[in-house]
Amino acid sequence: AQAEKGGHSSFMVKEILEQPAAINDTLLGRTDSTGALVLDEMRIDPARLAAVDKIVFVACGTAFYSGLTAKYAIERWTRLPCSVELAHEFRYCDPVVDEKTLVVSISQSGETMDTLMAVKHARELGALTISICNTHGATIPRESDAVLYTHAGPEIAVASTKAFTAQITACYVLGLYLAQLRGGTHAEQAQQVMRELHEVPAKVEDLLGRMDRVREIARFMADTRSVLFLGRHVGYPIALEGALKLKEIAYIHAEGFAAGELKHGPIALIEPGQPVFIVVPSPTTPYSLHDKVVSNIQEIRARGARTLVIAEEGDEAVVPFADEVISVPATSPLLAPLLTIVPLQVFAAELAAAKGLDVDQPRNLAKSVTVE
Ligand code: G6P
Repeated sequence: AQAEKGGHSSFMVKEILEQPAAINDTLLGRTDSTGALVLDEMRIDPARLAAVDKIVFVACGTAFYSGLTAKYAIERWTRLPCSVELAHEFRYCDPVVDEKTLVVSISQSGETMDTLMAVKHARELGALTISICNTHGATIPRESDAVLYTHAGPEIAVASTKAFTAQITACYVLGLYLAQLRGGTHAEQAQQVMRELHEVPAKVEDLLGRMDRVREIARFMADTRSVLFLGRHVGYPIALEGALKLKEIAYIHAEGFAAGELKHGPIALIEPGQPVFIVVPSPTTPYSLHDKVVSNIQEIRARGARTLVIAEEGDEAVVPFADEVISVPATSPLLAPLLTIVPLQVFAAELAAAKGLDVDQPRNLAKSVTVE
């Protein structure tokens, strides 16, 4: 097993480091020489896809958070309404779905029973179903109209890492393809974003090379009892995923919040010494969201929070209110999740290891849950 881990302390650590390749391989072969997206592999009549009037993502766990992330991007690029549902809730809520609905399931294993049941139900209702999946020939892709594989390679650790960034990548590719089908400015924008996406793997590689301080912080925090995570816009699902990683493998109470929601409740939790990770939007995010989140950091710091700030390189505005600044390479706001999740994955893996826990095989959890 040691050899399979490629000399790393755990599969999770190895898989975190494999993310540049996972993202790159998921982009590979999906554009032609002119930069246009080509998804003939799905074998769906483009006319059928062009008729879609709304998109519903169904998934569980980490895959659900990749769908939440994709919603921000796909609505912006396509102007199609997008919703994201937990598969086990969707199946039993009498969902409003018809022939013009595109139901996209996201599943690393392709075997999650809750997600499979949601897909079968959506098909019964006449929806077009696409599976985003990491496992060739799995049940969910077989039961769907089409499949768009993520090419993350086998994921062994129970806590999902490279499958997550590959899922976001595949969702983005699908969203950009839909934008291209819609033509005009949507299509031009799609090619521009694809070019930027191709630059992301090198940025993730660069980021992975400077995680020493994050690991050090994690080791100092080995006896921490609670960690909060705040984010806004695409940083919100990243806060949720960062919290999930910590729960899953370090057994620490962790909760993610939308930063704007802070004043509506969670701020009451802040007491001196409470560690809070804040995923700060890029300063180029519209609607001054960056400044609004910086104000949130200021508010919680004034109440004694220990602020661990994930911000874009060169973002000086966060410095006065940060106990720690973790910088990530600059990219356009919608692509930032592919970077901002990395320090949170590294943090959880290192903290769990510092507690002497089995990073790859957390208690009570299974890699793939094949029962309802
Ligand atoms: C299990 C795993 C999670 C995973 C979820 C969905 O609960 O422990 O890590 O995110 O299933 O799995 P899937 O294979 O459908 O992506």
